[in-house]
Amino acid sequence: MTTTYQSAELEELAPEHFSRARAPRVYDCLLGGVDTYQCDRDAALDLYMAAPWAALAARTNRHFTQTATAAAVRRGIGQFLDLGCGIPHRPNLHHLVPHGSPVVYVDRDPGVLAHAKSRLDVGPPYETTVVAADLMDMEELLARPDVAGAFDPGRPIAVAVHDVLPWNADDAAVADAMAVLRGWLPTGSTLSITHLTDHFNARTVPKAVAAYERHGLTVRPRSLTGISAFFGGFTHLGSGPAAVSQWSAHGPNVFHFTPYPARASDCAAFAGIAVKT
Ligand SMILES: C[S@@+](CC[C@H](N)C(=O)[O-])C[C@H]1O[C@@H](n2cnc3c(N)ncnc32)[C@H](O)[C@@H]1O
Repeated sequence: MTTTYQSAELEELAPEHFSRARAPRVYDCLLGGVDTYQCDRDAALDLYMAAPWAALAARTNRHFTQTATAAAVRRGIGQFLDLGCGIPHRPNLHHLVPHGSPVVYVDRDPGVLAHAKSRLDVGPPYETTVVAADLMDMEELLARPDVAGAFDPGRPIAVAVHDVLPWNADDAAVADAMAVLRGWLPTGSTLSITHLTDHFNARTVPKAVAAYERHGLTVRPRSLTGISAFFGGFTHLGSGPAAVSQWSAHGPNVFHFTPYPARASDCAAFAGIAVKT
């Protein structure tokens, strides 16, 4: 079978990049995207057999980008950092913010970057940058001229870390990276995180983890305590991390977002938005 690659950068990737499932492409498949290969679709089907809520969970997670971005825009924030941005999927973050706001997209996956460079690194009226970097080297990432130089350090930044940390199994490394990020952010910044958990669905989340494992992908659900720690001492909007589909309805929010129509057990993730005060 002949494969048609979509860009010269994709053509340069090693053959195994297209024959083994990749986390961002399985997620793209669950979202109904087209940037996938047979290995990703096989993994998505296996995952779906183990956890029939998987596609709804992906959509719910993706919807939360709109919630978190709207929350930041309402607070007057005009600079945005999307860590682990994934394969572009409309609306992307720069579609949700006032024109001219700097938006920096970061990912470590070479396939994601090839797609992102062609579809996210766009010109006016948008001010977007795509950066190849690993969050686990957070200090290095934040010191890069294309990241640090994109932002006014005197003004708050909204950072999205959505469904990224579960793909990093080393608890200590993730904790360190998030501490560096929190320390770097200017006062008034928002940090939004979504994270897989078995808190709402202890029966099928382990089956989903095993399905990923069968396709060579390691994903790590974390507890409420573990996920809450990634926010450090930031002040939560609402009353703290909630099921990703329920966040807007949870606690005394000053915002009135429409919750995504999914049960907590069908999104299997916590979401939170917190402010550096
Ligand atoms: C499931 S996708 C989520 C995409 C997007 N954030 C969303 O919520 O729609 C996870 C993305 O995080 C990226 N990722 C995971 N760990 C990363 C790391 N340590 N550094 C940079 N990117 C990472 C993956 O390459 C992938 O594109």
